[in-house]
Amino acid sequence: MSIPEAPSETIKRCCAAAYDHDAVRILVGDTLHPGGARLTERMGQLLSLTPASRVLDVASGRGDGTLVLAARFGCEVVGLDFGRRNVETATNAARERGLADKVTFYCGDAEKLPFADGAFDAVLCECALCTFPDKPMAVAEFARVLKPGGRVGISDLTRSGPLPRELEGLAAWIACVADARPLDEYRALLAGAGLAVGVTELHDGALVDFVDAIWMRLFTTEIMVGLKKIDLTGPDLAAAKDIVRHALAAAKSGVLGYAIVTAAK
Ligand SMILES: C[S@@+](CC[C@H](N)C(=O)[O-])C[C@H]1O[C@@H](n2cnc3c(N)ncnc32)[C@H](O)[C@@H]1O
Repeated sequence: MSIPEAPSETIKRCCAAAYDHDAVRILVGDTLHPGGARLTERMGQLLSLTPASRVLDVASGRGDGTLVLAARFGCEVVGLDFGRRNVETATNAARERGLADKVTFYCGDAEKLPFADGAFDAVLCECALCTFPDKPMAVAEFARVLKPGGRVGISDLTRSGPLPRELEGLAAWIACVADARPLDEYRALLAGAGLAVGVTELHDGALVDFVDAIWMRLFTTEIMVGLKKIDLTGPDLAAAKDIVRHALAAAKSGVLGYAIVTAAK
C-alpha cells in the first residue's frame, strides 16, 4: 500500500483537522459514520450498556455517538478526540442537550489514552480505527483501560480486495478508506490485545447509503458554490468527488464494507 510516507503525527493532525473543518458538516452531514445513531444504538446494545456503565468513546468526533449512548442508555460516557475543535463542539452539544452531567470530552490520542488501567466498563470506537497509524497500539490501549469482564466494540470500514489507486492517498486515508482492513484483521487485532472476540455484524448497506448521501451532497454543494450561495474555502471539491466516486463503486461492488466487531476482556 502506498500510503502516507508522512509521519504518523502528521496523519493524526491532518485527520483531526479534516474532521473538525466546517466543510465536513456540509459535505458529510450530521453523522460522521455509516448507520448514524441507529448503528450507535446497536453498538450500545451489543456492549450491554446500562445506566451503571462507564463508557469510553474513542475518537468521538463531534460527540454525536457519545450523546446518543448517554441519552439512550443513561450511562456515563467519556469522549476522546484528537481534534480540539471537535472536543469544543461536542462539549457545547452536550450542554445544549442537557447531557453535561453524563458526558465529558477530552482532547487526546487513541494510541496513548490518558486514562487509568481498568477505568471503563465498555470502550467503543466508531469509524476511526481505520485512520489510526498504529492500530495494534490503539487496540492495546482499549484493552488496558477496560475493566476485567468489560467489552470493546469497533465499527469500521472493511475491505475485501485491492482498492483502486485513487483510494490510496492521504486524503483517502483521512476519509477512512485507504487503510480499511479485511474483517479478519480487525478480529485479529482484538485477539492480539488479549481480548476474546465476540459478535461480528455486517452493515455493508449502511456504507452504500452513507457514501451515496455524500455523493449527492457533493453535487448540491458544487452547484451552491458555483451560484455563490455558499462560500466553501478549504476542500478541493474535484478531488473529493474523485475519492467519493471510487469509494461508492467499491462499496457497491462489495470491495468496501462496514462491520461491527465486539470483544471482551
Ligand atoms: C470518521 S470520524 C468518526 C467520529 C465519531 N466516532 C463518529 O462516528 O461520529 C474520525 C475521528 O477520528 C478522530 N481521530 C483521528 N485520529 C485520532 C487519534 N489518533 N486519536 C483520537 N482521535 C482521532 C478524528 O479527529 C475524527 O473526529
